[in-house]
Formats: sequence, structure tokens, C-alpha cells
Amino acid sequence: MSSIMVLNGPNLNLLGTREPETYGHETLADVEILCRDAAKQLGHDIEFHQSNHEGELIELIHDAGRRVKTGEMLGVVFNPAAYTHTSIALQDAIKGANVPVVEVHISNVHTRETFRHHSYISSAAIGIVVGMGVYGYVLGIQGLVHKQQK
Ligand code: DQA
Repeated sequence: MSSIMVLNGPNLNLLGTREPETYGHETLADVEILCRDAAKQLGHDIEFHQSNHEGELIELIHDAGRRVKTGEMLGVVFNPAAYTHTSIALQDAIKGANVPVVEVHISNVHTRETFRHHSYISSAAIGIVVGMGVYGYVLGIQGLVHKQQK
């Protein structure tokens, strides 16, 4: 059974209390349960991570790339949070590690401030889910499995 990495960027550890009018009331622990259930139904395990540090997210993407090569991992469902809009390094990591990534955003970034309209991640992603609340993680998992499973 191959696993799926669900990766969360900065400040997503605050879900549930962070701007609930934008991100809802579910906590990151709730999101983890949602992801585990969705993956289980499709016959996959979840490896769930959150980091506030860009370098740590890069290392995790490199690790996912190595494990995709061995067939141990299917790919990554990634909410890069604010690094979406700033990080060329994360785009390079995804391309360099050659890892299938589905980019997920809880909020509809396109209805928000203009600085959130551009993503450095999207051009390296196999798909994008935006604005569906935390259910977007489920859609991301389903999309990844649909696209990558042989
Ligand atoms: C986010 C959107 C980003 O613009 C923001 O910086 C986040 C969360 C989302 O899930 O909607 O931290 O990625």
C-alpha cells in the first residue's frame, strides 16, 4: 500500500482559531482525520506534516520524491500557505524532486488580496484545489490517486 504525504505550511497549525471566518472552525487535527478517512477508502495511508519553516518543507518534498521513485509513496497533497506566494525554492524543490503535488488552499485565494492571486507552486503542480474549505484536502487526495494510480 503506497502512502500519500499531506503537507501543511506556515500558520496552519493555528487552524480552528486562526481567522475562522476565512478558514473555518476545523482544527488541523480534524483535517488529519478527514485525510486519513479519505485515503483509507482509496486503499492508501497518510503521512501528515505541518511546518512553519521553508527549509523543512523542502526537505520533506525531497524525501517524498525519493519515496515516489521507490514506489513507496504516491505523491503529496500540499497546502504551502503563505509560501505559495513567495517561494521559488519550493517550486524548485517540487520540480527537482520530480514529485506529483496537488496544491490545496482552504480559502478561495482569488477572491482575496491581489498578493494571494499568484502562486509559485501552481506551475509545478499536477492539479490545484482552491476555495472548498478543508474538504479541499479530500478532493486533493482523490485527484492525486485518480491521476497517479496505475
Ligand atoms: C491558504 C491561503 C494563503 O494565501 C494563506 O497565506 C494561508 C492559507 C489557504 O489554505 O487558503 O496561510 O493557503
